Amino acid sequence: MSSAGFNVVRLAEFAWCRLEPSPGRFDFQWLDESINLLAERNIRVVLGTPTASPPSWLVKLHPDILPLSYRGHRMPPVARRHYCPNNPNYLRAVERIVTAMAEHYRENENVVGYQIDNELSLGEEYCYCEYCISLFREWLKRKYGDIRMLNEAYGTVFWSHEYRDWAEIHPPTPPLDRCNRGLALDWLRFRSESFIRFLEFQVEIIRSVSPNKKVTTNLMGLYPEIDYYKLSERLDFPSWDCYPKFGRADYDPAWVSMLHDATRCMGNGVFWVMELQAGPTDGYSEHPIGVTPDPGELRKWLYQAIARGADGVVYFRWRTACFGKEQYWHGILNHDGEINRRYLEVKQVGDELRRIGNLIADTKFKSQVGLIFSYDAFWATLVERNYYATTYHEQVLMAYRGFWRHGVGVDVIPPHRELKHYKVLLAPFLYLTGTSLTEKLRNYVEDGGVLVATARTSVKDENNRVYSDGLPGGLRDVFGIKVTDYTPLPSSREANIVVNEARIPVVGWLEELTVSTAKVLGVHDYRWLKGKPALTVNRYGKGYAVYIGGFLSRALVDKIANELVERRLVITPVKTSRYGVEIVAREGDGYRLLFLINHEPNTKDVEMDLDKVYEVKGLLKGVSLRRRRIKLRLNPHDVEILQLKY
Ligand code: GAL
Ligand code: ZN
Repeated sequence: MSSAGFNVVRLAEFAWCRLEPSPGRFDFQWLDESINLLAERNIRVVLGTPTASPPSWLVKLHPDILPLSYRGHRMPPVARRHYCPNNPNYLRAVERIVTAMAEHYRENENVVGYQIDNELSLGEEYCYCEYCISLFREWLKRKYGDIRMLNEAYGTVFWSHEYRDWAEIHPPTPPLDRCNRGLALDWLRFRSESFIRFLEFQVEIIRSVSPNKKVTTNLMGLYPEIDYYKLSERLDFPSWDCYPKFGRADYDPAWVSMLHDATRCMGNGVFWVMELQAGPTDGYSEHPIGVTPDPGELRKWLYQAIARGADGVVYFRWRTACFGKEQYWHGILNHDGEINRRYLEVKQVGDELRRIGNLIADTKFKSQVGLIFSYDAFWATLVERNYYATTYHEQVLMAYRGFWRHGVGVDVIPPHRELKHYKVLLAPFLYLTGTSLTEKLRNYVEDGGVLVATARTSVKDENNRVYSDGLPGGLRDVFGIKVTDYTPLPSSREANIVVNEARIPVVGWLEELTVSTAKVLGVHDYRWLKGKPALTVNRYGKGYAVYIGGFLSRALVDKIANELVERRLVITPVKTSRYGVEIVAREGDGYRLLFLINHEPNTKDVEMDLDKVYEVKGLLKGVSLRRRRIKLRLNPHDVEILQLKY
């Protein structure tokens, strides 16, 4: 490890049965030995609190810690994550092990911090035990105060659901779309908060025992169960687990980049990758064993992460296990532990980073575009799974991709973030708004921002009720339109938006826009909508609000992004005709770094126009030039970092 350049290792995240072999009896000796061994090589340690896998003795002692499905079955303790985050017996056991760990390592300088639990989640069915149900009722009571307020907010008169007492409320069960929309959304919010509370419980123990240690947890991208933006506020910084080729032989680099960008925004600029794919992934019931990453991919994924702001990257895992469930979840080393080509590749990055790491660390990722990711909107669409031909994530990714292609930095932010420094704000499928967000978006445009929204934006308020005075909710005057008719567009049918003769495909949903003050940029060509406004822009205050009467296709988002680039509303780092090469710019003091990442298994020639003459140095391949136009060849999956001096 040390000759490969490692300086940090994560340990113990599932080791409860060895750390506390029987109730209250702790054994840290084996872990101390490993930590000391690593310390001798200047490798520091992040410790996982082991709470993602309760030991067998604990389950036997308190069988009620197992989650209870809505069908009344206890989850059997056969894999991992078999606990209810609201169970008081579990919380007591968690308190004991986390306190013991924090105390034992308080003075150990080689332990830099903790990863709380591991990939917090329960899965779709969640838990319906007595604790969860009564806490949910208390949560509702705190939120609404008076049961009549809840009845009003939910519209419980429908199907005779009116409650007279909190004890009459039952959490909704899958499929959630059969249930009241307000109740379903609140249940998803409550579930998220249950895990946030569970995490906070551990964070507080660690901070009170050893305030000098960092606290993080490993997230899973833009995962549905927990509002990761809120959760991350409780941490020093978030981390995430990045497996580009898990469950797929080819992956979408924009998707991976978007998740780096989202996690960076969860951490207000700081994040780690706690698990980066290091080899072929294991089979999982729905997936076969994954393909072996091509030579160059492990290195490339690491550069992609640090280009987008990761301050630490840890590969998962070091050596492939010969036993247990994940026998084929390959580490850097195979089962035999011998040096192999993946090891040599990781070592190469280690050597490179030792040389150029500081130059990268002294630069910053800058974003001109904000992309709203709203957990409330996301959850509202999850309740209505399959109602739309596209998903919330697909639309968010589509919007992202248009700007990613140009190498323009995008922040993926929650709706409550400060918006004013973004020149452009994307709000795809922002299904649910509510008064405060409506006002925020209005002010953003009024003060000079460019807001771009798609169909099904501001359809519902914060209680998940459809607005009764027309769509898009309170933003009709901001967009200068009203949606007067709509239809889902089955994937078997085609439709386009016609902009100056050009026909640009639109997918999933079509809306007839009736214009008040907006200017029409494009019209529909679909059946009875033919000739009706489909794409509009409205001048509002000092800014502009663009509305698209359909969901984004690639062609449509490219058109919009290209237009904004051409009008220089957003500035691209270079002009280039590359395809399949990701460009990421980072700004330093007196220099700029351009990361060029070839995401394809073939050689790419990149031609770039830097707009003016720079001193250009290739940090990885060592070339130096003074030029404005640059031609560069990248081997399959290769990376170059250009340092441009002004
Ligand atoms: C992660 C998880 C690890 C390991 C890995 C491979 O999601 O945190 O513990 O299971 O996937 O499956
Ligand atoms: Zn429960």
